[in-house]
Amino acid sequence: MPSWQDRSARAVHFLFYVVILGMTASGIGMMVLSGAGPIIFGAEAAVLPDFWDYLPRTPHGIGARALIALFVLHAGAALYHHFFKKGGLVGRMWFAK
Ligand code: HEM
Repeated sequence: MPSWQDRSARAVHFLFYVVILGMTASGIGMMVLSGAGPIIFGAEAAVLPDFWDYLPRTPHGIGARALIALFVLHAGAALYHHFFKKGGLVGRMWFAK
């Protein structure tokens, strides 16, 4: 595999971790700042706040789109390697092998 592909694969995997951790942190941040936890978890019947009033909503929305982009890159690269490079990559993901 060319080194740029190896570096890209490492970067995409690293970014997956960063974005998923960022989504968790910004999601929890929205909940803490807005105090919406008891509404969502059923303790109170009330209208949910507008989460856009809270700062973490912006990175949460960007992170959601970044995850879709990373997923497309990741799955696209895996399919490319399976069908064009014939490395048996999809087969290696299976338990039976
Ligand atoms: C990997 C983890 C997560 C993923 C993939 C995820 C995904 C999403 C997506 C796709 C949206 C809609 C974004 C948009 O339309 O712009 C969203 C909104 C939201 N998420 Fe998450 N989320 C994650 C973690 C969390 C956590 C841990 C919490 C809170 C405990 C949370 C709370 C929220 C809230 C409050 C909204 C805003 C809803 C609104 O504006 O009406 N998320 N999330």
